[in-house]
Amino acid sequence: MNIDPNQIKLKTMKKRTITAGILLSLTILTGSVMAQKQAPLYKNAKAPITQRVESLMKQMTLDEKIMQLTQGNAGQNDNQNNQGEKIKGVDPLIGSLIYTGTDVEYRNRIQKEALEDTRLGIPVLFGYDVIHGFRTVYPIPLAQACSWNPALATQSCNIAARESYLTGINWTFAPMIDVARDPRWGRVAEGYGEDPYTNAIFCRAAVKGFQGENISNPYSIASCLKHFVGYGLSEGGRDYHYSDVSPQSLWETYLPPYEAGVKAGAATVMSAFNDISGVPASANHYTLTEILKQRWGFKGFVVSDWFSIQQLIAQGAAKDEKEAGYKAFYSGVDMDMGDNIFPEHLKKLVEEKKVPMSRIDDAVSRILTLKFKLGLFEHPYAEMMPESQRYLKEEDKTTVKQMAEESMVLLKNAIQTLPVSNTVKNIAVIGPMAKDQGNLLGSWSGHGRAEDVLSFYNGIEHEFNGQATLQYAQGCDFEGNDQSGFNQATEVATNSDLIVLCLGERREWSGENASRSSIALPTVQQLLLESLKKTGKPIVVVLSNGRPLDLSKIEPLADAIIEAWQPGIQGGAALAGILSGRVNPSGRLAITFPYCTGQIPIYYNMRQSARPTQGLYQDVPTDPLYPFGYGLSYTTYHYGPVRFSSTKIKKNQKLIAEVEVTNTGSKIGKETVLWYISQPVCTITRPIKELKYFEKKEIQPGKTVTYRFEINPMRDLSYIDSNGHKFLEENEYFLLVNGQKLKFEITK
Ligand code: NOJ
Repeated sequence: MNIDPNQIKLKTMKKRTITAGILLSLTILTGSVMAQKQAPLYKNAKAPITQRVESLMKQMTLDEKIMQLTQGNAGQNDNQNNQGEKIKGVDPLIGSLIYTGTDVEYRNRIQKEALEDTRLGIPVLFGYDVIHGFRTVYPIPLAQACSWNPALATQSCNIAARESYLTGINWTFAPMIDVARDPRWGRVAEGYGEDPYTNAIFCRAAVKGFQGENISNPYSIASCLKHFVGYGLSEGGRDYHYSDVSPQSLWETYLPPYEAGVKAGAATVMSAFNDISGVPASANHYTLTEILKQRWGFKGFVVSDWFSIQQLIAQGAAKDEKEAGYKAFYSGVDMDMGDNIFPEHLKKLVEEKKVPMSRIDDAVSRILTLKFKLGLFEHPYAEMMPESQRYLKEEDKTTVKQMAEESMVLLKNAIQTLPVSNTVKNIAVIGPMAKDQGNLLGSWSGHGRAEDVLSFYNGIEHEFNGQATLQYAQGCDFEGNDQSGFNQATEVATNSDLIVLCLGERREWSGENASRSSIALPTVQQLLLESLKKTGKPIVVVLSNGRPLDLSKIEPLADAIIEAWQPGIQGGAALAGILSGRVNPSGRLAITFPYCTGQIPIYYNMRQSARPTQGLYQDVPTDPLYPFGYGLSYTTYHYGPVRFSSTKIKKNQKLIAEVEVTNTGSKIGKETVLWYISQPVCTITRPIKELKYFEKKEIQPGKTVTYRFEINPMRDLSYIDSNGHKFLEENEYFLLVNGQKLKFEITK
């Protein structure tokens, strides 16, 4: 047999190839088996989160751990109160960043470095102040509360969450749930008003909206309850100032919204700037650790507010940064927002055995747990897509329009000035807010843009197209002494059938670091109204502002007043709908409008005076101009008698109260029933009345709807003492609903 040497060569080559192939496959196989063996558990998406956290922490050095406790910032910075700070170079080991940009590519680049240029590849958590909208800006939280529609608040926050998520923001510093009773404090705009219960309910709604059903789902972002706690009490309404929070008011008024937020599963909490009766909130072991983490079992993490650790020095609670860092961390702050104190000092504090490793591990594991829950290890990058697909969806605009409609409050409507009758053919739209766009966004407007906003003028123009013609005059600016536009405004008004005068506050007059000594509008706006009054034409005053105003000089001159708040991008459409009657106003105040600044503090749930008929002001009325819960409608409602399932119950029994409400007018409306309780005599005196439940329902003209409140005595009738213990007394109570006051008892 002839043997072809080439064949031999070929066979040998084949053999070699096969052998090499087998060897290669074996290598790959063993390699992958080994790799599988070596793949750290924390990278295994299927492993339980606690195990992933543990596995990751085992591999981390102290330096790496401390970097997880650190937050810096990146992107352009729009917050003028933080602008003094240089945008620092980004350390890829950083735990979190406040990302103030919308550039997804840049954000992803930072993330890539964290994942690929570090030993362990821990993703960065990107946060931002998404307070009432990311780009689709909706009404400020104070306005939302006036809608009494928490479901709508959930939907709105959900829009904000999706737009944030699509930009790579996984964490918002919201909701703010600081009960606020001093409208001089600019931050009243950011919370849900003066009542603890209302704050608690809207807090829950917001947490649900941001975090969704499950925080691990796409489009969910982590929420942050802020500012823990008592910040709303800043003395004299001066921001960043001392707040005298008594233990009783802490438990009774300021903590309940936070407890509700923790129960709702809020992922994080922010420690406040203020001093709580001598111990600043960011160094307060009692509130941060004993109450929040131990008593309430909060499993998320606490981030300090911007420079609140360093400020401990100014507040006299620490002599230097090291001591400030120690106090904050020891008290329960887990992440340092922007002060750079943890990365500078924690290591030394550990080495000196002042800070135990167990506390470091506790803080790190809280932060990593959230990163795992958010799915950041599996989906660290934000998807690149055009802005038009990320923001301002049409259906979202409809939702935020409804929120604006329901949050506006009709404060006055003399001789049915509103809705505008079809005999009105010429409308004079006047005032500094009439054509303004940017100010309708309010403070903390995320990435909202003035050009996205439908102004009041444009909204009215669109609504009354074909029915009435519009004439415009600015009249004056928001402030200053220039009255040169008054004449033109008077001329325009004289030729009209109705004046819509749009007044208000610039957006930067409320929000952070925006305290005012007087809550009246600048005199020039009031003078404009006075000069228009001389025309004898009916005047509708439209207000856009971030706080309750002193309207004592405005109210007597206006035929109708609409509080439109800072309504966001659809403000013009919402206002126009109310003017025309397409929308029946259903908002009610979630904060008292004092008669004047000198009445402050004034809120509905004050305690009883020792001499209720004395101690009145000699120079001004003692009652507020518009109380909590006030708001008019275009229809009328009749409340039937409240029915009780029983007037005597035992502590462990439930009591059902029902009331039938009939829409006796001719317009469909949405009526909110506010259920209050009072306990006139108690071991610890109680507020005159306390809101315990509310419900908003739509009622067709001529129809009757039943509202029901199921009273759970321990939840709704108990009081809390200054140690946070709840008590329920066998005693006499009252239920108060729309002018009705009914007695019931808890018996042995
Ligand atoms: C300071 C503010 O008090 C807080 O509300 C905000 O979240 C942080 N700055 C971050 O911007």
